[in-house]
Amino acid sequence: MFKPDKLILTAGPSVTDLELRYTSDAVKNGWNENWNGYLNQFESKFAEIIGAKYAVTTSSGTGALHLSLLALGIGEGDEVILPDLTWVATAHAIKYTGANPVFIDVDPETWTIDPDKIIPAINKRTKAIMPVHLYGHPCNMERIMNIANEFNLYVVEDAAPAVGAMSGNKHVGSFGEFGVFSFQGAKMVVTGEGGMICTNDKSLIDAVRRIGDHGRAPKEGNPFWIDCIGFKYKMSNIQAAFGLAQIERLDELIMKKRTIFGWYRDRLKDIDGLLLNTEADWAKSIYWMPSICFNGEFPITRNQLITALKADLIDTRPVFPKVSVMKMWNEQDNPIATHISKNALNLPGGHNLSEEIVDYICRSIKLHLNK
Ligand SMILES: Cc1ncc(COP(=O)(O)O)c(C=O)c1O
Repeated sequence: MFKPDKLILTAGPSVTDLELRYTSDAVKNGWNENWNGYLNQFESKFAEIIGAKYAVTTSSGTGALHLSLLALGIGEGDEVILPDLTWVATAHAIKYTGANPVFIDVDPETWTIDPDKIIPAINKRTKAIMPVHLYGHPCNMERIMNIANEFNLYVVEDAAPAVGAMSGNKHVGSFGEFGVFSFQGAKMVVTGEGGMICTNDKSLIDAVRRIGDHGRAPKEGNPFWIDCIGFKYKMSNIQAAFGLAQIERLDELIMKKRTIFGWYRDRLKDIDGLLLNTEADWAKSIYWMPSICFNGEFPITRNQLITALKADLIDTRPVFPKVSVMKMWNEQDNPIATHISKNALNLPGGHNLSEEIVDYICRSIKLHLNK
């Protein structure tokens, strides 16, 4: 029977000879006239996969969210609606522009923004909705886009952890004015740190490129002409080489994540009161983080389970805290987000997992839950 000799981690990238080949080529040759060869290939391949006309690389998902909001002209006095259950980066990006985040509750099954809660949060200051495809599960984009169209609001999809997920028959990140992705080291597709912005609008992609490169607007042959206060949010060619290899392997990476989730589902689905983050029937999740939530009575709490699993050399993560509870914001009464943030945890989901490791993790969970 499998017994770990070191901590089983929650994440971990999949790195093959392809990543090594592309990055070493970029290190050796990707300079001077070739400085953006991999950047161009990564951007165009990514746009093609997502089904967007344009894609621009960035230094992080957070920077990509910030740039998207700036390109839409969102700023002081505006409001942007987002789910109260997300990584704080979504809210920070709104605040960076001077606008205010409006936190609403999430759906108990998908853990993503609850479309029923959006309309009551709209007022004359509302400029945009930022749905978050949390842990790789898509939001119900059909309903969100209908609301956005009816109330004339922008949509910036935070698809940071959801490369390849689908809402209906379309890729997340291709519905709104912008779709934003992250390639930070724990994600399914990694570049170390990094991000991507997708859009179908040429003027928006031009704005993103300009604002994310110091506001650069070459004039009369001078490449250093600047026409606004901008930011430096660019990705390097070496990172893009790594990213290109990763997305050329996207189907394989998603397949492995879905297989890992299946191993958990087979072993944990019959535990009364334990909810797995299974996909809705209109969705294709990439199961970035297999997760469970205590929805019933158990002999130990979520935090006690985290400690007990750690003693068995199994690393887990508490689900993100409800964002509005933090001292920078005003806490909102969003009971579903509160419940999930206090009772759910992410299980190991790295690509290096085997079925026997998942079996060990599930046996350990069942033992601690007396199941
Ligand atoms: C939902 C969500 N939004 C935004 C981000 C920010 O991405 P990055 O870490 O690349 O800035 C993350 C990263 O974990 C995320 O999970």
